[in-house]
Formats: sequence, C-alpha cells, structure tokens
Amino acid sequence: MKRDHRAVAIDGPAASGKSTVARRLAERLGLVMVNSGAMYRAVTWQILQDGVDPGDGAAVVEALTEMEIVGGVEDGVSTIAINGRRLENEVRSSGVNDHVSMVASIPEVRECLVAMQRAYLEDNDVVMEGRDIGTVVFPETPFKLYISASEDVRAARRARDGEADAVAKRDAQDSQRKTSPLKVAEGAVEIDSSDLTIDETVEEACEALVRLGWNE
Ligand code: DC
Repeated sequence: MKRDHRAVAIDGPAASGKSTVARRLAERLGLVMVNSGAMYRAVTWQILQDGVDPGDGAAVVEALTEMEIVGGVEDGVSTIAINGRRLENEVRSSGVNDHVSMVASIPEVRECLVAMQRAYLEDNDVVMEGRDIGTVVFPETPFKLYISASEDVRAARRARDGEADAVAKRDAQDSQRKTSPLKVAEGAVEIDSSDLTIDETVEEACEALVRLGWNE
C-alpha cells in the first residue's frame, strides 16, 4: 500500500449492508468508493454474453485474455467497462448472481481484478468493499471492517430489493473456495448489522475507524 493514500477495507457476506455503508463512509470521509464485487460481476456478465461456460475454468481464462477491462471513477464511485461498454445494472441480473461465485473462484480472474483494485489506491484514498479486501487486496491497511448480518435478514433485504439471489448458496461458495475465501481479516472490527439501521451501522463503522486510528 502506498503510504500517501489510505484504504478502508470492508468485507462481509452478500447483502450484509456493506455497499451502503461503504458509500456513506465515502461521502463522509471524502474517499472513492470501490465496489469490487461489480468487477467480478462484470467479468461474469461478459463470459455469459460470450457464450462461454462459466464452469470451464480454462475457457473463462481464455475469454478473459480477450477482454479489455477498464476501471474508472465517476462522482466518487468506481466504474467498470469491458470492451468499451460501461456495465451498470445488467451485472445484477439473476444469471450473473447464479454464476459469479464460480467465476470469482478462478485464480487468474482474481489475479487480474486484484491488480485493478490495488491500482485505485495509486491516485485515490478509497473505501473498497468485497470478500478479500482486508485479507488479500490491502492486507497492510489498519482500517479493516467486517460487516455481517444474519442469513434471514440478508435474504429479506435481497427480496425487498426485488432481486432473485440465492445469498446463502453464494456465501457458501465464497467462503469455501480455495483462493481468497471470505473470512474475517486479522485485526478487522466486526459489526453485526442485523438489528441496526443504516445510520446506526455507519455510526458504528465510523467509531471503529477512529478506534483503529483514523483521523480526518
Ligand atoms: O459484493 P457482491 O455480492 O456484488 O459480489 C458478487 C460476487 O463476487 C460474490 O458472490 C463473490 C465475488 N467477489 C469476490 O470473490 N471477491 C470480492 N472482493 C468481491 C466479490
């Protein structure tokens, strides 16, 4: 990690509230918010678009080498384009939900996207959310949070958003994979958001960062 830029790392399972917290922290602390899951989703979307079997690791890696993936920042939030197409809501389709964990378990995919994630820190202070941010992407940052919520609460949140997303299945895959599984990073402050409002969760996150040495 470059000494002149700071990274807040937020990890946690699907629908734990980490994206909302990351967005709010970014606004409050003047950081760029990077959604690393959107990158894995974008690659998965492109794989499906190309008609490649997401379960065929070698075919996915070959397709990956053909992709021009460009990460950017707009209005303080990360953006992603593949082969010149900016990807937004399409990456939240049920097809992507169903296959993203499989694609994200491929080491070459992770290597490529982790490099892009680290590059954000060259020009920005960031809050990045995902599954392996505190453990793999920015292991040296002292500012690590792990945001969870009970399985029932998370499934209810997704249903409320109108999204078909088997969060428990994705979590099992994301936690059990060999490369960079979801786990609590050493030194991370854990926040259970099951019974907290968004405001309360953000407040706890800010207090935790201050305890970890954050000063504005
Ligand atoms: O945060 P999300 O639910 O949009 O992420 C989608 C998937 O991407 C998630 O199920 C696993 C994968 N992912 C990952 O493996 N590592 C990350 N840092 C972020 C997401």
